[in-house]
Amino acid sequence: MTKTISFNIQKGGVAKTTSAVITAEILQQRGYDVLLVDFDPQRNLTHGLTVDKPKCPVADVLNGKTNIKDAILRTEAGLGLLPADRSLFALQAALGSNALAKVLAPVSGYFDYVIIDTAPALSSLSVNALVASDLVVIPAVLGDFCDLAIRDVLNTIDTVRQQNKKLAVAGILITMSKKRYVLDRLVAEQYQRLADSKHIKLFDSKIRQCQKVKEAQMLKTSLLEYAPRCNAVLDYNNFVNELLEL
Ligand SMILES: Nc1ncnc2c1ncn2[C@@H]1O[C@H](COP(=O)(O)OP(=O)(O)OP(=O)(O)O)[C@@H](O)[C@H]1O
Ligand SMILES: [Mg+2]
Repeated sequence: MTKTISFNIQKGGVAKTTSAVITAEILQQRGYDVLLVDFDPQRNLTHGLTVDKPKCPVADVLNGKTNIKDAILRTEAGLGLLPADRSLFALQAALGSNALAKVLAPVSGYFDYVIIDTAPALSSLSVNALVASDLVVIPAVLGDFCDLAIRDVLNTIDTVRQQNKKLAVAGILITMSKKRYVLDRLVAEQYQRLADSKHIKLFDSKIRQCQKVKEAQMLKTSLLEYAPRCNAVLDYNNFVNELLEL
């Protein structure tokens, strides 16, 4: 059965897109068929996978101009991609909260995993991603008031559960960690207490800061191919192991 997972927190620059893509690549490497959904008008995911101007962006599917089957692309590496462009921004105000779930319904059965990358703001787009999901991964950096953003997304998830009862929190994923800093250890302990108090998981696997991630993104190449043994690939593989155990 298809599992739909969104990477969601109303906070910018915490590796939502990076985590969504690398998780999709690792799942694909393990033999799963994966559809990536770019649900952010910034379109970083689409751009990063080298699709500059998609002919049929997700906004066209949402407003009925295009059939979803025509909009889904296959990247060179074989990942399914429902791409985004700027027009998603204009559309969001008019979007009902289950619009994405509705358009994904006819295709989700064809994929093992659907992975949704979300925008960094609380908007109808992030709510749509939650309504369409079975699981939410909450990426968070250590600091930058991310604890507040974690609390906010958990509140949003509670509200969305009235509409999508199957929605569950996979856990909080610490990204870009710099283990040697005392501050990082202190904040990680704070997140553990927060996770415990909310009865959710803090993934044991933390994603270390790793320059190879940036290099691969700049070169628009798969991190798994570019630096298969780098710290980030190792950490994301451990994270995926935990995710698959849920
Ligand atoms: N493990 C890592 N090591 C080093 N840099 C990283 C790592 N993960 C992500 N980054 C970098 O951090 C920046 C933000 O990452 P990303 O775009 O994935 O965040 P985001 O949460 O999707 O941002 P936005 O909210 O704008 O959509 C990028 O420059 C990315 O290359
Ligand atoms: Mg992003």
